[in-house]
Amino acid sequence: MGFRDDFVWGAATASYQVEGAAYEDGKGLNIWDVFCKEPGRVYNGDTGDVACDQYHRYKEDVAIMKKLGIKAYRFSVSWARIMPGGTGEINPKGIAYYKNLIHEMVENGIEPYMTLFHWDYPYELYKRGGWMNPDSVQWFADYARVIAENFSDEVKHFFTMNEPQCFIGLGYRTAEHAPGVHAPIRDTFEMAVNVLKAHGAAVKALRQYGAKDIKIGYAPTGTMCYPASDKPEDIEAARKLLFACPDNPEEWTWNVSFWSDPVILGKLPDDLVEKYGRYLPEITKEDLELMHQPLDFYGQNIYNGFEVRAGKDGKPERVDRYTGFPKTAIQWPVTPECLYWGPKFLYERYKLPVYITENGLSCHDWVSVDGKVHDPNRIDFLQTYLRQLKKASEDGVDIRGYFEWSLMDNFEWAKGYFDRFGIVFVDYNTQERIIKDSGYWYAKVIEENGENL
Ligand code: FCB
Repeated sequence: MGFRDDFVWGAATASYQVEGAAYEDGKGLNIWDVFCKEPGRVYNGDTGDVACDQYHRYKEDVAIMKKLGIKAYRFSVSWARIMPGGTGEINPKGIAYYKNLIHEMVENGIEPYMTLFHWDYPYELYKRGGWMNPDSVQWFADYARVIAENFSDEVKHFFTMNEPQCFIGLGYRTAEHAPGVHAPIRDTFEMAVNVLKAHGAAVKALRQYGAKDIKIGYAPTGTMCYPASDKPEDIEAARKLLFACPDNPEEWTWNVSFWSDPVILGKLPDDLVEKYGRYLPEITKEDLELMHQPLDFYGQNIYNGFEVRAGKDGKPERVDRYTGFPKTAIQWPVTPECLYWGPKFLYERYKLPVYITENGLSCHDWVSVDGKVHDPNRIDFLQTYLRQLKKASEDGVDIRGYFEWSLMDNFEWAKGYFDRFGIVFVDYNTQERIIKDSGYWYAKVIEENGENL
């Protein structure tokens, strides 16, 4: 017992974070290209113009994955690279790049898991109103059709979108991420509804125009909740809080159920309608049907969680973190339990096979005097988290795969190159890659299918 024999041990990245080649071969602008150029937006004025230069070095990166025994690579497509205006004209050089990358993976026994949209929205569509424009649903469906027609011969696993919580919440409310807009709350709901419809329309397009044997999922995120004890009331409190919508309108996007209930259960969560009904645009029965397309699996990015107990009145309450609580370089708490309780609660509610589409941490890594990169904290983190995931699998949660974030150090959005999340170190001056200790450790875990975790 432990992980399934065919468990998918993967690693993940995203187009804007690794590709570079921002102005090459006919690629159109995306909102991150524009955002990064504005002073003060990104740490140190960093941009993804070059990033890890994977556009030119994909063969080397695939070779590293092969060396580590990584079975699957979750990567995303830069929409504006294959459709410079976001809709209409197709850029053959962009298509060729992804075909080459995919082919290289397949030749080397690495399965491609493709995300259609990981935040780098075409700037031309943004100028036309982006997600506020009702046509954004069709734009995304048209893009999905291009994806299906060009790549579904070799790619069998697709994710429509990565973390809508972030690209709406951070992109259009707190303005920390591109496009850096502080929109009214009503507008963020308007956009969110279009996002959910676009997800559904893309699933339909992938099924209609893609090869028949493709599998489709979704990759939202969320802060997980885990119980303070094994008492049933604490477990119930954690479950409740995980699926509750936040009371604070500033935080409304940070929840699981608004983004997943319509998609998987075909309905809006009741508490969201109660709390935020006044901000919601009209959502018809047909809209909900469009959002609710059959999916083959549930992807979830999980980094950390809150400890929760049943309060005196029975209501869930968060337990304060103790003084000196462990945290990663990016200041995120270390909470391995979230990789047991998160998948368990999600599987109970949504009843779909689960992939952990992202999990990992940033550390203050550097090249040591011996020329190697020693990252014991990353090994410890991954080990404790993966033990919890294994336990969930043993307790009957249908867990199919795990994608470590990230294959390599890369452009960490507003944090620029400050935070290093990779199991492979990248020297941004020379583009040299150095496999970190954690990379070799992960290779062993993969080889043993997690037996000795
Ligand atoms: C997630 C993003 C991913 C990466 C990690 C650290 O929220 O999906 O691109 O930045 O965080």
